Amino acid sequence: MSEAREVLETSEAQIAVHWKEEEYVYPPATFIAQANMTDPGIYERFSLERFPECFKEYADLLDWDQYWHTTLDTSDAPCWKWFVGGKLNASYNCVDRHLAKGKNKAALIFVPEPEDEPHRVVTYQDLYVQVNEVAALLQDYAGLKAGDRVTIHMPMVPELPVTMLACARLGVIHSVVFAGFSGRACGERIADSGSRVLISMDGYYRNGTLLDHKVKADEALQVAAQEGQAVEKVLVWRRFRGQYVSQAPMREGRDAFMDELLPKYRGQRVAPVSMPAEAPLFLMYTSGTTGRPKGCQHSTGGYLAYVTATAKYVLDIHPEDVYWCMADIGWITGHSYIVYGPLALGTASVLYEGVPTYPDAGRPWRIAEQLGVDIFHTAPTSIRMLRKAGPEEPKKYNYRFKLMVTVGEPIEPDVWRWYHEVVGKGQAVIVDTWWQTETGGFLCSTMPALHPMKPGSAGPAMPGIHPVIYDEEGQEIPPGAGKAGNICIRNPWPGAFQTIWGDRERYVSTYYAKYCKNKDSKDWRDWPYFTGDGAFQAADGYYRILGRVDDVINVAGHRLGTKELESAALTVEEVAEAAVVPVVDELKGRAPDMYVSLKPGYAPSKAIEEKVIQAIETIIGKIARPKHVYIVPDMPKTRSGKIMRRVLAAISNTMDVGDVTTLANPEVVEEVRRMVQGERAVATQEGPEDIRRFGEER
Ligand code: WTA
Repeated sequence: MSEAREVLETSEAQIAVHWKEEEYVYPPATFIAQANMTDPGIYERFSLERFPECFKEYADLLDWDQYWHTTLDTSDAPCWKWFVGGKLNASYNCVDRHLAKGKNKAALIFVPEPEDEPHRVVTYQDLYVQVNEVAALLQDYAGLKAGDRVTIHMPMVPELPVTMLACARLGVIHSVVFAGFSGRACGERIADSGSRVLISMDGYYRNGTLLDHKVKADEALQVAAQEGQAVEKVLVWRRFRGQYVSQAPMREGRDAFMDELLPKYRGQRVAPVSMPAEAPLFLMYTSGTTGRPKGCQHSTGGYLAYVTATAKYVLDIHPEDVYWCMADIGWITGHSYIVYGPLALGTASVLYEGVPTYPDAGRPWRIAEQLGVDIFHTAPTSIRMLRKAGPEEPKKYNYRFKLMVTVGEPIEPDVWRWYHEVVGKGQAVIVDTWWQTETGGFLCSTMPALHPMKPGSAGPAMPGIHPVIYDEEGQEIPPGAGKAGNICIRNPWPGAFQTIWGDRERYVSTYYAKYCKNKDSKDWRDWPYFTGDGAFQAADGYYRILGRVDDVINVAGHRLGTKELESAALTVEEVAEAAVVPVVDELKGRAPDMYVSLKPGYAPSKAIEEKVIQAIETIIGKIARPKHVYIVPDMPKTRSGKIMRRVLAAISNTMDVGDVTTLANPEVVEEVRRMVQGERAVATQEGPEDIRRFGEER
């Protein structure tokens, strides 16, 4: 690679940015020649002067039953309403409207994890039939109607998007919970959303093992009941028709197999319910600063318009493409960019059941070769894993990507280059898309045929998205200042979530309070959206995202709230105090390090460490397993008794702990340091920005 340029540095050490600017990499002419978006005028059309009417261009990609009268209604600020007066149905837009021209075309291609099990193609006609039959069942057997909530706890199988679309057909609000989450985590989400129905599955393959999944449903129901939510029906899909692979008993009168119920609804059609644009389409729970997960509520019209347009222009999806996103549908990336965006565009979306490296690191490239995948979408954590396990593997396979996506965490320029040169064979365009569960779709990314790429940078803001970087005092940090700050968005956009389910106050205080200019204002200009990410804008306008500025740790692209982990550890009888900090991890980006102190009378032991790990796995799920559990004699604390997580983060990452003399117990810092790093003082490192800022008082 060519020589790198040096970025400016300021003297304000804690927020100065110290990395090398990377050289631009240009998209190939063959890509540009076929791209959906080649008109640089789009940025002008979506300028702030044209806001909010510019977004009509996105909404016009959908079929509306009734056109809207108000593009943006701000009367209930900051709960924005888009396309008010408009009516549409999401399942109609993702399924029915493609039948005339493409009923015989693949909609979903399911790749089971066992390599000898053949892949399964679901055409748009198949999808239409299945969505209708499942909708008929949900309506008739489960008594569901528009506005009801349903929790779906399912793995990566085609029955998952079918179930989601069946809900959407009825106007039922789905809340999909990632299959890797524990039964308890699922139960809390059932209770919070007020679901009377849980849709689950008996089992699925993960890393060569057929996992029992239905057991989690029973635990989930118990937890939901404790929280006051009764679940009347559990609908269970089966991985193999007619064969039950779970050990959990089916409860008479409550549990039923989908494959046994469905024949009754064969051939039934359900008219798509025409929903108001601002009716909620789904809830997606995500972690935040306090213990309880937040149910981000997404709209029907605004959300679908935004994901359809961004999938078309940024992912460059054409109906003829074979598009594969390796994310899980249980996360927002899967909702927006496996299910809703790609299907609204009538393309073929690949669903892979298992882990990328099963049975070996060549698997993704074999899948790509066999199915003719030409758009590939994944996260840095998988790229790092695949590089480590098989750096030369992609060369052995004859596939060709035109576009590749990275999402979920910052990507190191070095990892970016392997992705570009080896996976993309130097020919694929890369888009580094920065966004969040809350934002519905992309906020920053290069437009692939319009902008050069810059390794490690997400790129400029999307059309119609107008970011601003504020310092702690609310002063704007201009591009090229060499300083990082809190990245916010000045304006609302159609993909943004509407509120936190049942907790408007938390919605306002988490996302809008910090930089709000006037709490009584109905003018969107007074309500910048606070993303919770630190970022830096280079002189060329490209944004580089540094990571979370709150108590959220991004582990392998999954958001974990430190408070959730800490409360899980505190359920262990012996544990008196718990503190979680992020530690740099070669593959996962960041991993959680857990520090605990014990109640009087207990001595540290391996068994207690094990109990802490167990508690976290049962309460949250295996994804939250800490990298280390350290049982410390005491937590470093301020004189007012606050645990100094910043100091623990410095110790975990062999960074300078700074001045600790004002602590209530400075001597404990050295004791803990020795326990973590060993006797000899380790050379101190500066550490990455998010870790340097972690645990700071804000
Ligand atoms: C981080 C996933 C750097 C960021 C879509 C954000 C990224 C959080 C990128 C949201 C990226 C996402 N570069 N960081 N391209 N994309 N992030 O809600 O910290 O699971 O706030 O949504 O992931 O995670 P979430």
